Amino acid sequence: MSVYLDNAATSWPKPEAVYRAVSRFMRHVGATPGRGGHRREAKASQIADNARAALATLFHAPDPQGIAFTLNATQAINMALKGILRPGDHVITSSIEHNAVWRPLKALERDGVAVTAVPCAPDGALDPAALEAVIQPNTRLIAMLHASNVLGTLLPVAAIGAVARGHGILFLVDAAQTAGAYPIDMESMCIDLLAFPGHKGLYGPHGTGGLVVRPGIALETWIEGGSGVESSLETMPETLPERLEAGTQNAAGIAGLLAGVRFVLAAGVAQIRAHELALTGLLIEELARIPNLRVLGPGDLDQRIAAVAVTVEGYVPEQLADVLDQAFDIATRAGLHCAPQAHRAAGTLVHGALRFSPGYFNTAAEVLCAAEALRSIVGGG
Ligand SMILES: Cc1ncc(COP(=O)(O)O)c(C=O)c1O
Repeated sequence: MSVYLDNAATSWPKPEAVYRAVSRFMRHVGATPGRGGHRREAKASQIADNARAALATLFHAPDPQGIAFTLNATQAINMALKGILRPGDHVITSSIEHNAVWRPLKALERDGVAVTAVPCAPDGALDPAALEAVIQPNTRLIAMLHASNVLGTLLPVAAIGAVARGHGILFLVDAAQTAGAYPIDMESMCIDLLAFPGHKGLYGPHGTGGLVVRPGIALETWIEGGSGVESSLETMPETLPERLEAGTQNAAGIAGLLAGVRFVLAAGVAQIRAHELALTGLLIEELARIPNLRVLGPGDLDQRIAAVAVTVEGYVPEQLADVLDQAFDIATRAGLHCAPQAHRAAGTLVHGALRFSPGYFNTAAEVLCAAEALRSIVGGG
């Protein structure tokens, strides 16, 4: 049995409709949204607009036109951070961020932006009161992940959003691990900017993602170029999404993303979450029977997403992942997962961990097979 348990990196397989949509777009549409004015362009633009509408429904976003497509979540996060923060501003983040947030913040820090990382507990828990305590008069933004790709921990986004709104501070959420897999409501969670990948829980192809911007938030551009509208201007247009979408977009990918989002809407996030949580619970239960194995992250399943990182005393995670891949055909991911901060919080910075991340297309049999394979490598249980 070939088992893919690396959905936290990129989901696979994709729904059939996604493969078909990409192929159909490339074979029969072909044109670039917003460029050309012919019927093929109109079709391509319609697909992009449908994708924005579907995403706005999924995230309860205030305005579909506020959704700018990007190549991944990282680009969307950079676009937001560098579009908002200026020297002299203060930004609050968490101590378990992915490098997609951490590295741009470190770059901004070198340019005179003050950064405070609120410490999380070793299992990733963050106290909104601790966050509120570090707000300063110049705090312009709170920027943090919705769920950790290492610890699996869900942060209390609604409570943090309420704190941000109460203080008139903008709130950026990195939904890399939750978009499509956990309910997100930009209105009730007071989210001003939402960065999402298209290629994980939304089941789109590689090279898809986006930033959702609440109306009225002025973002400086970080990339300039052709926008298809107001071409006589020497600056990017003020209107969204054109302001943030310089150059030809990944139109075939967006067609696939539309099919992926429609799949998620049809299945229902609650149903996807229930399936992934059941697999996560089963996986943790089976893994916990292995001697000297530690599961990172919260003990309470409700506080988790479907990313289960473990360490086994006496074993290097990368070697375990190699054996699982080579001898058992089981794809996992080991090391620091681009998130050394989360490993620092968990005390696993030196060797990292071995991560299993089930998705909606995995089965209980696959999860049991993976746990059994690890048991047979390290012995016991
Ligand atoms: C929490 C988190 N943020 C950001 C990213 C970056 O996403 P992308 O690869 O789409 O840029 C990831 C990817 O694993 C992630 O887990």
